Amino acid sequence: MPRVAVMISGTGTLLQSLIDDPRRTYDIVAVAADRPAQGLARAEAAGIPTVVVRPSDHPDRPSWSRALAKMLGTFEPDWVVSAGFMRILDAAFLDRFPQRVVNSHPALLPAFPGAHAVPEALAYGVKLTGCTVHLVDAGVDTGPIIAQQSVPVEPDDTEQTLHERIKEVEWQLLPEVVQALATKGCTVNGRKVEL
Ligand code: GAR
Repeated sequence: MPRVAVMISGTGTLLQSLIDDPRRTYDIVAVAADRPAQGLARAEAAGIPTVVVRPSDHPDRPSWSRALAKMLGTFEPDWVVSAGFMRILDAAFLDRFPQRVVNSHPALLPAFPGAHAVPEALAYGVKLTGCTVHLVDAGVDTGPIIAQQSVPVEPDDTEQTLHERIKEVEWQLLPEVVQALATKGCTVNGRKVEL
């Protein structure tokens, strides 16, 4: 069975959508976090090994990302999924899993990259936002796009209501993409990705 590792920083609802996917024919072999994230309990409840690799336990960013890559590497994942992982992954990490790291982002990239996509989209006044699943490169949410889905912004939306509606779409899209990647892979031609 294909092996998938997941990285989280927060509540782990995206992780839960992967765990619960009835179509899933890959193993979630480990869940890693950069802090004692609430979502780790979801992995533990599902019997999935968890690891916490804190940046503050390392002298600098490259040594933290090397340690994280080394730790995840011990689980021999075919794919690494960043599911609400709120850190930028540098070359020290990505070189270990070339073209094998996927991220879910709560906006229609290239609009609103970074850690504040939902409030920034709301403040900008866009009528349509959404979510993007993309391959991770060394930039901030700049990697080739695998799949996107739109979500309308309602006039009375708050950051919370809008983010919740975006997450409902992510809970469908991310498991669908990870299932396809894990079982069939993808071809990457420049910026164009075919599942
Ligand atoms: C998701 O909306 C994900 O796209 C976003 O964090 C949320 C995680 O939710 N990720 C980013 O903003 C990364 N820049 P969760 O903790 O409930 O799974």
